[in-house]
Amino acid sequence: MYPSRKEAEKLLQDAEALNPGPWENHSRVAAHCAEKIAMQCDGLNPEKAYILELLHDIGRRFGVRHLGHASDGYAYMMALKFDEVARVCLSRSFNNQTLEDYVGAIDTIEDELDMIRNGFAERVYDDYDRLIQLCDSIAGAEGVVDMEERMSDVKRRYGSYPQSKWDTNIALKRYFKDKIGHNLYDVVKKRVFSLATNNLDILTALGKPGAAYFLQQQRVGQSKKRTRTDYISRRLGRGSENGQQPLTRQDCKMR
Ligand SMILES: [Fe+2]
Repeated sequence: MYPSRKEAEKLLQDAEALNPGPWENHSRVAAHCAEKIAMQCDGLNPEKAYILELLHDIGRRFGVRHLGHASDGYAYMMALKFDEVARVCLSRSFNNQTLEDYVGAIDTIEDELDMIRNGFAERVYDDYDRLIQLCDSIAGAEGVVDMEERMSDVKRRYGSYPQSKWDTNIALKRYFKDKIGHNLYDVVKKRVFSLATNNLDILTALGKPGAAYFLQQQRVGQSKKRTRTDYISRRLGRGSENGQQPLTRQDCKMR
């Protein structure tokens, strides 16, 4: 069982208020990727993929923890009876189904460790588990990132990155590429995806058309500002091209 898209957005929004950080945008970028890839895969529901991915780090609502956020997310989602989300809160951290290649501090008490072990030990991973793992590894806080670059960044920050986990991530990328027959980065629109555009959809989904309109107007304002700046730059730079008189700096102040 898993929540509706609107419920999931609200759960993330509430969690963001409790523990703000780049993880919120990372979750949104990852959810975007999961939805786009699932759209191309037979047997995967894009809406479900989006929701599971959006909430894969929901345990962060309880504060800054390493492994602990996985068990927090699992327990929280199980308490709400969203067992399918609870499942990926754990499986997304363990693509080889072992605690050995977890990257980060093991900051859990023994009961939480038992819960984690029991949560994934006897489970057979399906394509949702694999998709959530894949998208987790290509989602930055600003947008879609290169998988190898992201893993290298993690390696730099933590001092190491298990080769088995690295290899499994690469295999996951190949698995989905073969499944859909396209370059994954093209499918998730790596070069052009904008979280700002995506946020319009989220606000609309949350039933906040006023906030969506405000955000849109802000973007239009920024775009007009850019256009005016481009125009001035062109005129200053090109002089009397196209028969126009070059602008003086005084002209720019007056416009
Ligand atoms: Fe994540």
